[in-house]
Amino acid sequence: MNDKSIQEGLIKITVPPFDKVSAQAPVFYNPVMELNRDLSVLAIQQFQRELDQDITICDAFGGSGIRGVRYSKEIEGVSGVVVNDISSLAVEFARKNAELNDIQNLEVSQNDANLLLRHRRGEFDVVDIDPFGTPSFFVESAGNSLKSDSLLCVTATDTSALCGTYKEPCIRKYNAMPLKSEYCHENGVRILAGFVAMTLAKYKKRVEVKFSHSSEHYMRLYLKISKGSKITDDSLKNMGFVAHCRKCLFRQPLMGLAPHIPQECPVCGEKLVIGGPMWLGSMQDSDFIRGMLELAEEKEINTEKKVLKLLNMCLYEATLPPTFYDIHKISKKLKISAPPLITVIEKLEEDGFSVSRTHYQPTAIKTDAPLERIEEIISEYMQSLQ
Ligand SMILES: C[S@@+](CC[C@H](N)C(=O)[O-])C[C@H]1O[C@@H](n2cnc3c(N)ncnc32)[C@H](O)[C@@H]1O
Repeated sequence: MNDKSIQEGLIKITVPPFDKVSAQAPVFYNPVMELNRDLSVLAIQQFQRELDQDITICDAFGGSGIRGVRYSKEIEGVSGVVVNDISSLAVEFARKNAELNDIQNLEVSQNDANLLLRHRRGEFDVVDIDPFGTPSFFVESAGNSLKSDSLLCVTATDTSALCGTYKEPCIRKYNAMPLKSEYCHENGVRILAGFVAMTLAKYKKRVEVKFSHSSEHYMRLYLKISKGSKITDDSLKNMGFVAHCRKCLFRQPLMGLAPHIPQECPVCGEKLVIGGPMWLGSMQDSDFIRGMLELAEEKEINTEKKVLKLLNMCLYEATLPPTFYDIHKISKKLKISAPPLITVIEKLEEDGFSVSRTHYQPTAIKTDAPLERIEEIISEYMQSLQ
């Protein structure tokens, strides 16, 4: 069988033939990750603009080279890209694909990502960690390697661990108790961010979440790294836990690494379940996302509609507190049918609360309103129909 030809963004690549997308394919390529790569191009470009100087990028898990080749071709102000992979066949194709696209400033490397990052410490402005499954084995080396004013991009596809379907793997890999709930994907992204923040803290490196999302089968974080013990110590005040009541859906973020953890739900008396430690600070930077939105207008992107929808949603939810309320779940608890989401949003806005849809869940809202008020609105709406 002939190699497969793929066109994505401004480039084309070839990969060896494969039957289905899997880690067992001779060289890994997943078309579903086009959205991830498109967003990465925008996020790294936005970072480069803010830094206002040429940048070097390390694509530590290069696969076919599609990501690194796109970074080199599509991002302005890139002085060099290193595409690395442990597999000799992947490296062979990455080299071919760089040539196919006439890329001059790209170096191909075959190494274990941890060794590469340690050997080339302080060399990269952007490090992209896009492994199979968990990134947890590589965050330590990224922490050691990254310099001040750099960007760390991290993908995790072990969402069942981060979301709490299986709790032990989350404890082992992320040193955190997951919290299975209607907002478990948000908890998962926060556990991942918290894990990176705590891992980098020992190198006196502070993380700021510029953009984050959970889409399809993966979670993705873009973290700005700065150096300094004081700023790092201050940033760790964003760590905390979430207490959740499975019976009445009450939830409470608990700030700090040693907070007082209530045992019983203050509303219904049920035993609370606890998730964390996790990052309870901001998960989106509004200015950074606005910049990405402007860039999305300028650049040619196949997934433009999805990109704009996701970025706008993340922009709306940027300033709202942790966790969200699934209107269907609350309605089920009240044993009534769910009202249109827009009705709940408008009523909360009339009351003066901040409220937004969330990219995590189409039937949910993020708000600073209390659960009791949301329940009242749902009940009143249903009564008004009788
Ligand atoms: C999910 S794929 C990368 C996909 C690629 N970034 C893309 O956007 O298409 C993970 C890659 O990591 C490589 N890999 C696995 N373990 C590695 C390690 N320890 N160091 C470097 N590369 C590794 C695999 O060979 C595979 O190509």
